Amino acid sequence: PRLLIIDTDPGVDDAMAILMAANSPEVRLIGITTVYGNVPTALATQNALRLVEMAGWAHQDVPVAQGAARSLKAGTDMERIADFVHGADGFGDVGLPPPRGSPADCSAAEFIVRTVNAHPGRVTVLALAPLTNIAQALMLDPALGNKWAELVVLGGAFFTNGNVNPSAEANIFGDPDAADLVLGATPRLRVLGLDVTTHCRLSGADLEALKGRGRFGSFVRDISQFYLGFHKEWYDLDGIMLHDPTAMAAVLRPELFEWRSGAVRVACEGVTKGHTVMDASPKGFHGHHGWAERPRVQVALGARREEVVELIRQR
Ligand code: BDR
Ligand code: CA
Repeated sequence: PRLLIIDTDPGVDDAMAILMAANSPEVRLIGITTVYGNVPTALATQNALRLVEMAGWAHQDVPVAQGAARSLKAGTDMERIADFVHGADGFGDVGLPPPRGSPADCSAAEFIVRTVNAHPGRVTVLALAPLTNIAQALMLDPALGNKWAELVVLGGAFFTNGNVNPSAEANIFGDPDAADLVLGATPRLRVLGLDVTTHCRLSGADLEALKGRGRFGSFVRDISQFYLGFHKEWYDLDGIMLHDPTAMAAVLRPELFEWRSGAVRVACEGVTKGHTVMDASPKGFHGHHGWAERPRVQVALGARREEVVELIRQR
């Protein structure tokens, strides 16, 4: 199996993605790193520990390393936490008992650097939250982007509206400076965002059908009810968008997605702050400063969505 680290802000859809790993023989999860976003970082850590225990992983096999509490240029935007999307507890306010375990005694960035260096070329890093920890890891070890097998980022809205505002998706908006650094720091990168994930959904009936199914069906159904209400209220939708699980599906089965290669940049200021821009031209724009020197990365612009959703449902 491929070795996997998940960087996350759990979060209903993060929980689904992490639990998928427990049912996926293609990967072996070897650590979780936490960051702010859907919930503050300390709560993200508690929720990650809860998921480790629920999945039946030993804490020494899947350590949880706590990461940044603020964006790189701290104090700017994203102390706004998404409690209206995921509930105040991040899990739809279902009222879970506290976890038994505690986090590792290193930072998220240190954990990522140490673990990737321990297994050169073998670790996939799946980033499901603002990219602060990944940026800090790259600052600690600038060669890291040639040492991981691949970085898979859930973030951005390339040719569609954002979800925080019309131009920005939440994970990129959470730390645009970190995102601009990370998305330009490694050729071993796949990024997928709202262009794909808004179309990968489970309906309210699909969620009901999960009840009692498998190890996690009832939990996923229960924590999703608040998230379902959010989709009803803001999108008039009977269903939930499967953002983070879709990124996990891209780790497991990249061939289910349409990838286009091109350089990516992130707007760090102004009205479009947090907007992801991709160069989708066949050969790049001749010599344009800020673009030509950037690595071309893989951006998902489409997917075989029935198969993606079915994979998520099964796992
Ligand atoms: C992303 O933002 C968070 O709310 C979700 O967990 C997902 O990672 C979607 O924009
Ligand atoms: Ca997330």
